[in-house]
Amino acid sequence: MTLQIIAGAQWGDEGKGRIVDWFAASADYAARYNGGDNAGHTVTVGSQVYKMHLVPSGIIHPQVTAVLGNGMVVNPRTLLDEMDMLRRAGVEVSPRRLRLSCFAHLITPAHRALDSALEAARGKGSIGTTGRGIGPAYTDKASRRGLRAGDMLATDFCERIGDHVAETNRTLGLLGAPLLDPAPVCDEYRQYAAALKDYVTDTSLELDAALRAGKTVLAEGAQGTLLDIDFGTYPFVTSSNTTAPGALIGLGLGLNAAAGARVVGVVKAFQTRVGSGPFPTEVGGALAERLRGSGAHPWDEYGTTTGRPRRVGWLDGVLLRYAVRINGISELAVTKLDILSGLETLRLCVAYEAGGRRFEDLERGPAALETFQPVYEELPGWQEDVSACRRWDDLPPAARAYLERIAALCGAPVRLVSVGAEREQMIAVA
Ligand code: IMP
Repeated sequence: MTLQIIAGAQWGDEGKGRIVDWFAASADYAARYNGGDNAGHTVTVGSQVYKMHLVPSGIIHPQVTAVLGNGMVVNPRTLLDEMDMLRRAGVEVSPRRLRLSCFAHLITPAHRALDSALEAARGKGSIGTTGRGIGPAYTDKASRRGLRAGDMLATDFCERIGDHVAETNRTLGLLGAPLLDPAPVCDEYRQYAAALKDYVTDTSLELDAALRAGKTVLAEGAQGTLLDIDFGTYPFVTSSNTTAPGALIGLGLGLNAAAGARVVGVVKAFQTRVGSGPFPTEVGGALAERLRGSGAHPWDEYGTTTGRPRRVGWLDGVLLRYAVRINGISELAVTKLDILSGLETLRLCVAYEAGGRRFEDLERGPAALETFQPVYEELPGWQEDVSACRRWDDLPPAARAYLERIAALCGAPVRLVSVGAEREQMIAVA
């Protein structure tokens, strides 16, 4: 059995799409285990840029079967649009290649309306959600009144959609938000049910059989460790378990699947965050502009889903060590190393300071982070353009020293380094 889990080690946007694409070349299944269309995974192949929000990015490889797992919340409109986009790009999308778990929850326009209304009501304390209805859909799941993909096959599906819209209208009314007319939503979802019914299946059963048959299953996490509902910077988090153990629940796999699993933590060579919440190593000014990029390229630091400029900062080694522990990361994939070329000096947060004490580790997880001051180590930068490097030895000594320091700080080896957005701009470290 081979389970490979790709999980974000920061606040999302680590470049997981790119790393998944690398591993998917030799995988049989690519399966998303959490989140919904709040995610944005970008893969660049030549002049073709794929931006995926729901379908696992592994689907680009023709031998891969793609799975939307039970841990996901799925907006059927986005899913159908994305399936069309992939078909137009020449990717086969059919029930032979794509499965939707019957236990995945559905997102509706009522969830999206509620997401916006709740954010507006939070005012200055808003989370900065993506507005995709993620939180309300997971709330309905936990409240045991959610609608699941399997429900699309039931004869009373439309009635249940109508009830759900009416129920959500009660809360929207209390928030002073506009109400939704259930009838058009029912019609819309009747059409989605017809278009998607052949894709709905018990994916847990199929993934279990695949692993027993010795196939490789690539579990594709969305968002990152620090946005995990339990282990992130709560309440400035998303509503799912983004961390690697979430792959077991989110795909319906037993603990036996975890034995010998490869857990790849994807970490950007610096730190970014989109939305509100603490960010101890955040920088501003010219350095921030330099790290963020102008927005002219798909790899610049602007949200794939919302287009919002991302906050940027120095790599936080304390939070990375935390991510290695919580996920059980066995190896690191470091992305966007090329962006650091040309900086005179690099700073790396190796500890925090608060109340005259030094903290190498977080004692209560990433809570109350605003009270901690980062303690930096300075390392020499490098001036060379690294985007043409393909082997570890091609990298400038200062770049290798930076990566080695990161590995030593968090206790996980660096196995992959990306030096550009193109598929082949990758260094596999022996
Ligand atoms: P939600 O997932 O839309 O509820 O948003 C909750 C928080 O997670 C917000 O701070 C979002 O900006 C952040 N977030 C959600 N999805 C992503 C993502 O894919 N990348 C980065 N941040 C995300």
